[in-house]
Amino acid sequence: MTLFVTLGLLTAGIFPAVLCQQDGTLGSNTEVQGDQNNGTQVDSLTLATINTDFAFSLYKELVLKNPDKNIVFSPFSISFALAFLSLGASSNTLEEILEGLKFNLTETPEADIHRGFGHLLHMLSQPGDQVQISTGSAMFVEKNLQILAEFKEKAKALYQAEAITVNFQQPHEAKNLINDYVSKHTQGKIKDLISDLDDQTLMVLVNYIYFKGKWDTLFDPQDTVKSEFHLNKKRTVKVPMMSIEDLTTPYFWDEELSCSVVELKYTGNASALFILPDEGSMQKVEASLQPETLRRWKDSLEPRMIDELYLPKFSISTDYSLEGILPQLGIREVFSTQADLSGITGAKDLRVSQVVHKAVLEVAEAGTEAAAATGFKFVLLSQKVNPLIVSFSRPFFMILLDTNTQSLLFLAKITNPK
Ligand SMILES: *[C@@H]1O[C@H](CO)[C@@H](O)[C@H](O)[C@H]1NC(C)=O
Ligand SMILES: *[C@@H]1O[C@H](CO)[C@@H](O)[C@H](O)[C@H]1NC(C)=O
Ligand SMILES: *[C@@H]1O[C@H](CO)[C@@H](O)[C@H](O)[C@H]1NC(C)=O
Repeated sequence: MTLFVTLGLLTAGIFPAVLCQQDGTLGSNTEVQGDQNNGTQVDSLTLATINTDFAFSLYKELVLKNPDKNIVFSPFSISFALAFLSLGASSNTLEEILEGLKFNLTETPEADIHRGFGHLLHMLSQPGDQVQISTGSAMFVEKNLQILAEFKEKAKALYQAEAITVNFQQPHEAKNLINDYVSKHTQGKIKDLISDLDDQTLMVLVNYIYFKGKWDTLFDPQDTVKSEFHLNKKRTVKVPMMSIEDLTTPYFWDEELSCSVVELKYTGNASALFILPDEGSMQKVEASLQPETLRRWKDSLEPRMIDELYLPKFSISTDYSLEGILPQLGIREVFSTQADLSGITGAKDLRVSQVVHKAVLEVAEAGTEAAAATGFKFVLLSQKVNPLIVSFSRPFFMILLDTNTQSLLFLAKITNPK
């Protein structure tokens, strides 16, 4: 309970679950080589850029399927889950997954990709950081199927992933077991990941990420007031709007794309970029989302005093079925009868039938106790000539980054905070 009595709290959770079903398929195993040849190892920034490329590509597909809706997902979490899945894939199935994740296999061999993700996970799980990131993967396998010992070892060594056997003949119990596991690992933030399992299910792969951070500069809950958010030119909704005055924070006005970019830092190694397109510029900004744009924004941000900043307080939960979307990014075979996931059980009998991705994103200023203790806010009734006012009172983007690895932990478009 006391965990939440802190100003500037953001919590988020996200889970892709990959459900596999039996099917006749063909294939062979993959090899993850030893630790030699570290000269070609993919460094974490290159990996972050590749993951960002995948994130924005996936974002664009999600928008096509969910026009005008809130979009919230964890690119890192999805990349990680698919890379983990690829560990058990071979031949064309394997290539499709890794190329779909935007890797060029000529430049980055498969073994380096796995090592890169392992390293990223290690960096994200550093204890002692003031932001709390818990992320992990688990595979639930029908108890009548044998997982290859070699696969289990690789899963543990590279992805710190667990393999747990369950009885899918009793789908209700199996579902509860998986949902309890995820709930426990996400501090109860994601409760009912899976709503139903059918008796064909042989394997469920889940990946979760739970993030909790405290804003570096706190919002005072007493300044949060109901205020209008413009959904579009005609419609508005009333939302709790947090506000802060005289905040010096990295800021950039992007003239080319007609949008403001504001960085709000967390205490610790994380930060959020809020991108506010001018009225009528949403589509232009959206179309320009790519690693170069993000890099340009990050390079252009400079500390600037913002006279008034308004940001809605919100909690948004989304669910996506990615099996209908990943094929648009070239990841097809793993969902078909041609799938080769023989690296997992040794048999050529698995394919992925469903990919569930669930995300919860909360942005808040949090409790009053800390508010009473801070008292940094003093109101200056100044007569400013050109006050800089940034009001997130129309659709905007939020990009939550781990600053150590430059990983995109969350990517969101908020079209309606309510
Ligand atoms: C490569 O491996 C050597 C010896 O194992 C180590 O000293 C060096 O730091 C490694 N280089 C990189 C870039 O990881
Ligand atoms: C992959 O990298 C190689 C070598 O750098 C390059 O020649 C090739 O065009 C790249 N392939 C793609 C699809 O970008
Ligand atoms: C950032 O992460 C490093 C480890 O990668 C850690 O030593 C450091 O304490 C963190 N910084 C903060 C402010 O939490």
